[in-house]
Amino acid sequence: MEAVSIKANLPARPAYKASKYIVPNQQVPCEMIQRPRPLVAGNWKMNGTRSSSHSWAKYMSRLAATKVLGCDIAVSPPAPLLDLVARALGATTTIALCGQDCAPQDKGAHTGDISAAMLAEVGCRYVLVGHSERRNSHGETSTLVKAKASMALAYGLIPIICVGETQAERDAGRAISVVRAQISRSLPERTTELDVVIAYEPVWAIGTGRVPLPAEICEMHDSIRELLIRRMNKRADVIPLLYGGSVGAMNAEEIMSLQNVDGALVGGASLKDEEFWGICVTCDNLKSDSSGNMK
Ligand code: 13P
Repeated sequence: MEAVSIKANLPARPAYKASKYIVPNQQVPCEMIQRPRPLVAGNWKMNGTRSSSHSWAKYMSRLAATKVLGCDIAVSPPAPLLDLVARALGATTTIALCGQDCAPQDKGAHTGDISAAMLAEVGCRYVLVGHSERRNSHGETSTLVKAKASMALAYGLIPIICVGETQAERDAGRAISVVRAQISRSLPERTTELDVVIAYEPVWAIGTGRVPLPAEICEMHDSIRELLIRRMNKRADVIPLLYGGSVGAMNAEEIMSLQNVDGALVGGASLKDEEFWGICVTCDNLKSDSSGNMK
C-alpha cells in the first residue's frame, strides 16, 4: 500500500494575529510584533476509558461552543481513544486532537508504533514528540525526536517538541545548556515558525507538584526564544512556548502570566474536565483581549 499524504484533509491552522506588545520596563510600545497564538494542551498519557473520554469531550465541546476563547485548545488522549474523542467533540469543534507520539518511519513492520499518517487521518492537528517519559523510559534521543518531528511535518501535523532537564542537570547548573542542546538537535531543518510548538517540561516538575520559580521559567523561556530567533530570525516570535509540569488550577495564572509563556502542556489536571476548562479560560483572560488579539 502506498503512503498517501492527507495533508489537504486537515483542518486549517488558526491564524496568527498581530498586536501591539509592550516590552516590560520600556516606556513605549515597540513596533508591531507578532505574538504567538496561545495554546493549552492536555496530555492524558496512559489514562482514560471510553466512558470517561466521552464525557470529558462532551463537557468540553459544550463549553467551547458557548465561549469562544482567544487561545487554542488541544487534547492528547491515548491512541485507541482518539477516534472516540474526535467523534464526541464533533465535526465543528474548535478543540484540536493531538497524538502522544509518532514513529519516525511512515509505515511498515514497526509493531506497536503509530504513524503520523494514522494520526493525521484520525483528525490530529498536533503530535507530542520527545516527551521526557519517552526520552527517559524509552531511551529516545534528540536525533530520534527530530526524525519523528520531521515525519509529523511531512503529514501536515504540528509537532509539539518537548524538552526539559532532570533534577541532577539543574542542580549541576546545566538546565539551560541541556534544554538548548535538546532543541537544537530535535528541530527538523525545514521547520518554520508556523509549524512547530515547543514545550518546556522540567522532568523533576512532572507529576510531582513541584514547579520552578517564576524567574527560572522566565530564564528558560527567554533562552528558548533567543535560540529560536537565532536559528529562524525574528519570525520565531510567533512560535508558542508552553510550560508543562504540575500545572493546575492553583498555579495556572501565575505561570501563564509570565512573559514568553504562551500556554501550558497539562498532564494530570487535564483529565479533570472542569479544571482543564478553567486553565483554558485563565489562558484566554491573560493572553488575549476582548477582540481576540494577542496581548
Ligand atoms: P503533570 O501536569 O501531571 O505534571 O504532567 C505534565 C506533563 O508531563 C504533560 O506532558
